[in-house]
Formats: sequence, structure tokens, C-alpha cells
Amino acid sequence: MEALKKLAAGVYGDSREVAVYDTVNEKSNSLYDHYKILTEMHAPLQGRLVLDIGGGSGAEVQSFLDAGVRRYVCVDINKAMVARLLERFGTERRVKAYCKDMAEIKITEVGRPNNSLDEISPEESDFYPCMYDRINLSWSLAYIDDAEFLDVFRKLKFLMHRPDGSLVFTVPHPIHDMGLADPPDYHSRGLRLYAAGDKEGFPIFYRTIADYVNIPIKAGFKLEQMVELEAHADDPFADSVRFPDGSRYPSRLMMKWVHDW
Ligand SMILES: C[S@@+](CC[C@H](N)C(=O)[O-])C[C@H]1O[C@@H](n2cnc3c(N)ncnc32)[C@H](O)[C@@H]1O
Repeated sequence: MEALKKLAAGVYGDSREVAVYDTVNEKSNSLYDHYKILTEMHAPLQGRLVLDIGGGSGAEVQSFLDAGVRRYVCVDINKAMVARLLERFGTERRVKAYCKDMAEIKITEVGRPNNSLDEISPEESDFYPCMYDRINLSWSLAYIDDAEFLDVFRKLKFLMHRPDGSLVFTVPHPIHDMGLADPPDYHSRGLRLYAAGDKEGFPIFYRTIADYVNIPIKAGFKLEQMVELEAHADDPFADSVRFPDGSRYPSRLMMKWVHDW
């Protein structure tokens, strides 16, 4: 799994690569109306505190600011992505971001008041604890293995200790990604190679729909809504799909989770 982590940290390694990612990502998200669906799943958002795990260069941020959130905190393992996010939103006092592996988040750290690209030093680690109303994970779960997934969700459960708290994740739909194996294989979990945009062959952690349901349940969440977005032929992230022309298949899987009190 270390190879996967190194790659996630450096896959969009400099500002040029991040800019390419932004262009391709924006096109893909717009095709699916992703920001609209995501903010609707999290509604109401006015005055809410949001935590974004794997927020990248900040693709989702503006939609949440427009919806009136009080605070938007991003955590991402990739420095170049966080740098881009801060370039866009660094002067917006509601947005905070820092560079960190989600598997290493400590519950008290996410309330950190300052923007920084640096790892959090031990002296800084006694932040005031902060609870969140809304948690986003858009595409970032595809970069951690099942053990980390469970561990991260156990922590997120504490961070979302709010009566109307919600967590929404978006992942590549397993029916879409089963075609990354040749022959297509729905059932084998683990590393697979992905081609997306101008990136060829970077690894993701493939898992099934049952895994995406059972791991959060094990961590103490309750499933409230599931959305399966139909693939668009012109989605730049769908170029590895081996479905014959004219077939209809889901490309993105979104799930909304609440506390199982
Ligand atoms: C495909 S990008 C999605 C970014 C953003 N959420 C979006 O929708 O545009 C996946 C993000 O997850 C981040 N990521 C991958 N592994 C991570 C980890 N272990 N901890 C934190 N972030 C991680 C990557 O650096 C990358 O920015």
C-alpha cells in the first residue's frame, strides 16, 4: 500500500499537472452536475461546518461557500493540490486547508485554525477539538485500503457528532471500474491501474459495492441515500471503460451516511 500512498501524494506533483487535473475534473464534474447533487444531498448547508477529506485543489469548495457554510476545512495528502486550493481560496476566511494523510488524522487536529502546507508539528497538535456537521470525501476513498477506510471512518464518526450530521462520499462506481481488469472482474479487491485524463496507469484501490456499504456500517454509520450516476460517453475519466457502444452503465457511486446513534 505504500506505493499507492506515494503515488497519491505525488500523482499531480506540480502546478502544471494540477492545472491539467482541474480542467479535466471540472469538465467531468459538470457533465454529472456533481456539485449540485452533492450539495443537495448535504442540505441544509447554511451555517454548517464542513470537513473535506481529500479535498484536492478545491473543486467542491465554491458550491459549499455559495450555499452559506460557516467553515470549510480540507485535508489532502498532496502538497501541490493543497497549494492550488490555497491559491484559490486562501483569502477566504471560511476556508482552511492542510496537507496530511487521512489515515493519520488525529481527532483533535482538524480544528486547526491556520492554513499551512506543512505537516502538523507536535507542538501544534493540541488544537481545540472541533465537530463537523458535514463531511465530504469526493474520490479520495479510492486511494486507501480497507483497513485504513475502516479506521478513518471510526474517527470521522467522532468528528461528525452532530444531531443532523451527514457524510457523503463519491467513488468510481465498481461496475464502471470492474472493467479495469482484463477480463472484467467485479469481485477481486485490491490495486488496479487507472487511466484518466493525461494520466496513464496510476493505481487505485478497487472494491465492491458491498464493501462501500459494509465498512461504514462497521464503523457505526447508517446509510441514508445512494445515488448512481449514469456514465457520459464524453466523460474524460471514462476512457478506460470497455463497454460496447450504446451500453448504459453507472459511472459514479454516491452514498450519504448519518450517525447510527
Ligand atoms: C481524484 S482527487 C479528488 C479531489 C477532489 N475531492 C475533487 O473531487 O476534485 C483525489 C484526492 O485524494 C487525495 N488523497 C489520496 N490519498 C489520500 C490520503 N491518504 N489522505 C488524504 N488525501 C488523499 C489526493 O491527493 C487527491 O487530491
